[in-house]
Amino acid sequence: MTGLGKVAVLGAGNIGGSLAQRLAEMDLAREVVLVDIVDGLPQGKALDIQESAPILGFSTRVTGSTALDALAGADVVVETAGLARKPGMGRSDLLSKNASIVRGHAEAVRVQAPNAVVIVVTNPVDVMTYWFRKISGFPPARVFGESGTLDTARFRWFVAEALGVAPRDVTGFVLGSHGDTMVPVLSLTSVSGVPLTKLLPADRLAAIVERAKQGGGEIVNLLKTGSAFYAPTASQAELVRAIARDEHRLLSASAHLDGEFGERDVYIGVPAVLGRAGVERVVPVDLTPEERTAFAASVAAVRDDLRILSELPP
Ligand code: 2OP
Repeated sequence: MTGLGKVAVLGAGNIGGSLAQRLAEMDLAREVVLVDIVDGLPQGKALDIQESAPILGFSTRVTGSTALDALAGADVVVETAGLARKPGMGRSDLLSKNASIVRGHAEAVRVQAPNAVVIVVTNPVDVMTYWFRKISGFPPARVFGESGTLDTARFRWFVAEALGVAPRDVTGFVLGSHGDTMVPVLSLTSVSGVPLTKLLPADRLAAIVERAKQGGGEIVNLLKTGSAFYAPTASQAELVRAIARDEHRLLSASAHLDGEFGERDVYIGVPAVLGRAGVERVVPVDLTPEERTAFAASVAAVRDDLRILSELPP
């Protein structure tokens, strides 16, 4: 399987616009449709991207719409809609507003694109992915969240910068929730197979872990009016490509757990094999006792937010 018919991007803000641009330039689908409630925004961004096609050479048709029926028949839906953080806010502060936006979209996707694979980006992402899955009624394999690929990219960059090596040669995993409790897993990080712990002293490693955990907040504090979108959309595009080309990539994603890592009925960042069907499987990995404790704390933080979600008025 190569390529997709239609990718729908819900939300035409900084994330949605930048993602649509990346997807068009990667020529992964026949059509990319941007959908947003603000009239003119999705149409304007789509047309602007489309007009770059003669120079960049892509064939993807890029359209914009305010109507949810523009989702019809989408093979992949990326949910980016919702409020973004401002300085001083945690991702969980967005919970109730974003839950109501995601509910409406999940209901529309259920009807318009019943066979789609869905990638949720809206924060707090582990909770919103759970919520989207529940409202849509889709099988868990077809709904997953983008979190770990972004957190891992930030972590990989900080390691590459500290060591003066090519960023792509640094591989690793940031697991757990996309929040303050995320777990950069040093025991799974290497530079072309050389364990990171042999390359950097413990105090430098600890500083990198801390910076990676605050990576999203660092950008929010710099931008002051919104949150990151270049690295997030690079990560989302990598996920869409894994689906479009059925790549069976082993990446960190917010996936549904049904006993893996000793947890059930929760979405959280874990290593997962991703392809045309969505999450093909979650890959259990050995964690050190400290990493296991940190992962459990991260699951507990997501469960706290799920409890708040379940208490929201319908
Ligand atoms: C981030 O980490 C927006 O949550 C996203 O930048």
